[in-house]
Amino acid sequence: MSINGEKNLMNDQKETSHIIGIRDMKEEYIQEILDQTYEIKKTPAKYSNSLNGKILALAFWEPSTRTRLSFESAMLRLGGTCMGFSSQAGTSIEKGESLSDTITMLASYSDCIVIRHPHRGSAKLAAKIASRQGVSVISGGSGSQEHPTQALLDIFTIHEKCKRLDGLNVGLVGDLRYSRTISSLLFALSKFGRNTIYSISHPTLSLQEELLFDLEDSNLNIINLENLGDIIGELDVLYVTRLQKERFPDPMLFNKVRGSYQVHPSLMKLAKDSLIIMHPLPRVDEIPYAIDQLPQALYFEQAKNGVYTRMALLKKLLEHRK
Ligand code: NCD
Repeated sequence: MSINGEKNLMNDQKETSHIIGIRDMKEEYIQEILDQTYEIKKTPAKYSNSLNGKILALAFWEPSTRTRLSFESAMLRLGGTCMGFSSQAGTSIEKGESLSDTITMLASYSDCIVIRHPHRGSAKLAAKIASRQGVSVISGGSGSQEHPTQALLDIFTIHEKCKRLDGLNVGLVGDLRYSRTISSLLFALSKFGRNTIYSISHPTLSLQEELLFDLEDSNLNIINLENLGDIIGELDVLYVTRLQKERFPDPMLFNKVRGSYQVHPSLMKLAKDSLIIMHPLPRVDEIPYAIDQLPQALYFEQAKNGVYTRMALLKKLLEHRK
C-alpha cells in the first residue's frame, strides 16, 4: 500500500495509492497535481472520457457541500460515475455496522473511495482495508487532523494568483486549533521554501502544540498575533476559517469566543490590492457579505478550483488502473 500516491501506478499496477494526508506527500507529487490542474482548468472538455467506466464511492459520515459535490462533479466531468452516502442516515451504519465492514463493501462496488469521518486515523484505516481489493482511498477530511485535497486546491489557488509558493506572508484567522484545513495548508506550504505565517486567533483557538512541534524544523516562520489590523497591510494571503463548533470540547467555550474574529470591511483599507482572501467555506459570520464585492475576495473562485484539482487527482490515481 502506498500512502499519498508516491508510487507510480503506470509502472506498478498492483500497488494501490491513497491520499490520506498532505504531511507526507512529496513535493514532486504535489507539483504534478498542480501542473495537471492548470492543464485541466484550461480545457476541461479534453478530459471528458478519461475515466469512462470507473466508479467513485463517496462515504461521508460528516456534513459536506463543497468536498462531496466537487468530487462528484470532478468524476462526472472525467466520464466516470459516483455512488455513496452523505450521512449515516439510511445506511446500515445506523444498525451498528462498523467502519471496516462499510469500507469492505464499498471497495467491492467501486474503484476509489472518498471518506470523510470525524475520527483521527479513519482514512488510514479505510486505506488499509480497501487496499485488499486494490481500491484507492482519498481522505475528504478526518477529524481536526487533515484535509489533504482542500490543501491541494488551496495551494493551487495561491499559486495561480500569487505566482509563487514561497516568500509569502500568510495570515491565518479564526479557529486555528480545530480546523483541519489549517494543518493541511501548513504542511503543504512547508514544502515550498520559506513562508511567514501569522497565526491570528483567540488564545484558546491557537495552533495545536502537536502541529507546531511537527513543523518546528520546517521552513515556516510562525508568528503569533492577536490583531489582524496589526499585520493586514503586509499580507499576501489572508486565510479565514469558521469556528469548528462540532469539535469544541466545551459549548461554553464556543459561546465565549464566537464572533471574536471577523474580517471587518474597514480593515480592508489597510490591505494590499494584491491580497487574496481565502476561506475553505462554509462561512458563518467571519467574513461579512460586504467583502464579497472586493477584488481581493477569492473564496468562491477557490471553491471552484476544487473541481479542477480533484479532477487532476482522480485522473492521476485512476486513469491507468484496469
Ligand atoms: C472544511 C472542512 O470540512 O474541514 N470544509 C470544506 O471541506 N470546504 C471547513 C469547515 O467545515 O469549516
